[in-house]
Amino acid sequence: MNLKNSVGLVTGASQGLGKAFAEALLKKEAKVVLCDINHTQGAITKAEFDQKYGPGQSTFITCDVTSQSQLKDLFTKTVRKFGKLDILCNNAGINNENCWEKTISVNLMALIQASYLALEHMRCDHGGKGGSIVNVASMSSFLPAAHAPAYTASKFGVLGFTRSIAEASRLGHYGIRINALCPSFVNTCLLDTINHEETLGMFHQFKDTAKHLIDSVGILDPSVVVDGFLQLIEDDSLNGAAMKITMSKGIHFENMI
Ligand SMILES: NC(=O)c1ccc[n+]([C@@H]2O[C@H](COP(=O)([O-])OP(=O)(O)OC[C@H]3O[C@@H](n4cnc5c(N)ncnc54)[C@H](O)[C@@H]3O)[C@@H](O)[C@H]2O)c1
Repeated sequence: MNLKNSVGLVTGASQGLGKAFAEALLKKEAKVVLCDINHTQGAITKAEFDQKYGPGQSTFITCDVTSQSQLKDLFTKTVRKFGKLDILCNNAGINNENCWEKTISVNLMALIQASYLALEHMRCDHGGKGGSIVNVASMSSFLPAAHAPAYTASKFGVLGFTRSIAEASRLGHYGIRINALCPSFVNTCLLDTINHEETLGMFHQFKDTAKHLIDSVGILDPSVVVDGFLQLIEDDSLNGAAMKITMSKGIHFENMI
């Protein structure tokens, strides 16, 4: 896909990886809708992007992705603002084992809901023009993590959903490529959740195991994850892929049978 003049929607775009993905699209001259529940940080990010890329290139919409009505409005407003939708990046995510239902709700249920809304707008077999969806999963989609069982379950779910809906898209001729981005630890605020009992809950006792794991595998810079994100969107041959990104191997793919 050529990104120039395309329209992308990134959830959880106020900070961290979502902000980096949104900026990568802007650098490629795409128009971008930034969505986040954190409107204070969202306004700061939008102002920064306006300065760098011009005010017409992006828009910020406050949205809690777990609200079905807000999510529906988000897609309607995106198409009203920029006339179409070509790319969805389901990035919004939390790690909260104390409120594990919320973790499943943000990381998995909202991602499924947003993907279905995107399909409605983009499906070639329903009058749309096709497109690309990147679902932000994790290395947690493959490995057990004693400090984060619900988070891990959500990311296993993201991978299973992504591979299945990608297959549905292929068989149903939706014209939409759907792929999973599975980075190891990345240098963002999310990593700090392992330091706090209010987020790890009863699994806080395993925080040192998590810290040792981080020390041994290292922490990725968001820029490496951005490279993978762009590859998933720009390479038209990729559908149903699970792109892993680690410090030791860089960008590589999980071989699915
Ligand atoms: N940081 C890592 O080590 C790492 C590794 C693998 C995968 N991931 C995934 O990357 C994605 C981005 O995380 P990050 O590391 O940039 O963390 P982050 O905490 O910096 O950013 C997450 C963003 O999501 C937003 N968000 C949270 N709940 C929301 C909701 N209900 N509605 C809308 N927005 C909401 C937050 O306000 C925040 O801006 C997540 O899906 C995360 O699971 C992160």
